[in-house]
Amino acid sequence: MAQLVAPNVKFHSSWLEASAEFAGVRQDGAGADGWSQEDLKDLQAFGRFVQTLINDALPETPRKPGHVPCTYLWMVDGATFLGSLAIRHELNGYLLNEGGHIGYSVRPSARRRGHAAEALAAALPIARDLGITRALLTCDEDNAGSRATIEKNGGVYEDSRNGKRRYWIDTFQRNAPANAWHANPQDAAT
Ligand SMILES: CC(C)(COP(=O)(O)OP(=O)(O)OC[C@H]1O[C@@H](n2cnc3c(N)ncnc32)[C@H](O)[C@@H]1OP(=O)(O)O)[C@@H](O)C(=O)NCCC(=O)NCCS
Repeated sequence: MAQLVAPNVKFHSSWLEASAEFAGVRQDGAGADGWSQEDLKDLQAFGRFVQTLINDALPETPRKPGHVPCTYLWMVDGATFLGSLAIRHELNGYLLNEGGHIGYSVRPSARRRGHAAEALAAALPIARDLGITRALLTCDEDNAGSRATIEKNGGVYEDSRNGKRRYWIDTFQRNAPANAWHANPQDAAT
């Protein structure tokens, strides 16, 4: 059963396999910018990466200028890492115009199976619990997969800015996800 879980070192080998599939392409919502893929092959370094992702949800955690607190979640099925999803707790100027509240990516070998749409559905109640009543979702004008993911989840198009389509989703209007996709963000990283 696919789940949204907190980042956890137990997915180390599967996470590395997935990262290799991205082959240098950015993993949206992964929080891996600035981390060397080579370094992350080391379990201790990966543990620091995982802890950094978890700590980013805490307001008091030091972060780069222009960055806001963020909850990182992983899409997994059993021991298999499927993708990443990030919920930014608030909007700054950049996020309001282009980035939005929620970013995600699915590993190439697991695409077109409904994972992104279901993960976003599972993330919306979590966003609501973080105090986000209206979630802003954005995608590139030519990103048909992300556009369909957002529209399937009730995204209401507002406008396009700098090549990004901007949609709002009322998180109170979204029902809990179907049984097939279980959100378990409290799953501790051990
Ligand atoms: C966009 C992305 C997350 C979609 O993931 P996914 O798990 O393949 O998406 P799903 O299987 O849940 O598909 C959701 C909808 O998008 C459609 N879709 C997915 N990929 C598509 C594509 N390449 N072209 C057209 N439609 C696509 C699906 O058909 C489905 O719509 P439907 O139910 O009406 O048929 C994935 O392609 C990805 O990781 N891309 C790179 C990162 C990225 O662009 N992230 C989004 C940043 S805003």
